[in-house]
Amino acid sequence: KLYCLIMAGGSGTRFWPRSKTAKPKQYLNIFGEDSLLQSTIKRFSTFTEYEDIYIVSGKTQAKVLEEQTPMLPKQNLIYEPVGKNTLPCIGLAAMFAEIDNPEGIMVVSPSDHLITDEDLFKDTVLTAAKVADEKDGIVTIGITPTYPATGYGYIKAADEITSGEKIKQFKVDRFVEKPDEKTASGYLQQGGFFWNSGLFIFKVSVFLDAVKQFAPDLYDDLKKIQAEIGKETFEPTLDTIYRAVEGISVDYGIMEHAQNIYLVEGNFDWNDLGSWESVYLTDKKDENGNAGSGEAILLDTQNSYVYSDEGLIAVVGLDDVVVVKDGNTTLVCKRDKTEDVKKIVEQLKAGK
Ligand code: GDD
Ligand code: MG
Repeated sequence: KLYCLIMAGGSGTRFWPRSKTAKPKQYLNIFGEDSLLQSTIKRFSTFTEYEDIYIVSGKTQAKVLEEQTPMLPKQNLIYEPVGKNTLPCIGLAAMFAEIDNPEGIMVVSPSDHLITDEDLFKDTVLTAAKVADEKDGIVTIGITPTYPATGYGYIKAADEITSGEKIKQFKVDRFVEKPDEKTASGYLQQGGFFWNSGLFIFKVSVFLDAVKQFAPDLYDDLKKIQAEIGKETFEPTLDTIYRAVEGISVDYGIMEHAQNIYLVEGNFDWNDLGSWESVYLTDKKDENGNAGSGEAILLDTQNSYVYSDEGLIAVVGLDDVVVVKDGNTTLVCKRDKTEDVKKIVEQLKAGK
């Protein structure tokens, strides 16, 4: 049995002004018709039944989530009263799955990545599911790093456990979440390190054992929530307990501590779409190196990203800029500063 859990509760502050609290980046159609979340569901639907695809998201996103997922049963949409990062999110979904089948395999996926090589993606995930089943481990999918990124987890591979298969599989030595740039550079020089793609594959019982071991308080709280599933008291119980749990990512909470980790090599194209710069780099360019969509006139302008939801944007004589208009809000930013867009959101939140 294969379950898929799509984590869709992130706030995606670096996509401001298109991402707002009620509509974070996973609900945006950055490329083409489908939102990133809808593309994620499609990617899994070629090898998972819709009734086995679960989504965990925040209550404030309920409306847009339901609008975008008419193909999924309503009871597969799980709402958190507040975001507590990815460990409580996965733990909560695992508690639902455990009732159904503790020996089932769960594939946990982010909702906001761009992956176009669907066949290889499918083969890689199915290979990971096989490893998870045979080894009783937590399986990651590793991407070959290309620069010392500080926004990813790094995984040091140990012995290869495949002999001759196309998709390589390894035992993992250690997992380091978001090292600083110096450390990351060292890893690249040393070799043998992969980026963590953000996908995790495991037997439900194996993951819950790890939660019990490395986050025992959370485990107890999740068990209390699980006891209420299907009852009228479920929502109030979830609300009270979940608000009080510690917010922590699965990377810091479990992956950095667990011993039984495996890695399957991911050779499909993979893009985290972390900022407007990564959207620019991924998007199709015209002959002047410009990308984007909506109505725009660009004169003497190169290597820029211009997006308008409605109405015309005109740019004259600027290179390497990002201009994004959404409703009555416009962002103008140098391309190498798009990581700082999140600071604008922080300022807005702080009411400055
Ligand atoms: N439901 C829910 N609740 N989902 C959440 C929450 C939450 O509180 N927080 C984050 N998510 C979702 C996001 O929407 C995203 O789809 C996914 O979980 C991962 O969260 P990010 O916040 O985007 O994580 P990250 O990018 O900083 O780091 C993770 O992904 C990297 C690859 O993109 C880590 O796993 C890294 O190790 C990894 O390299
Ligand atoms: Mg991310």
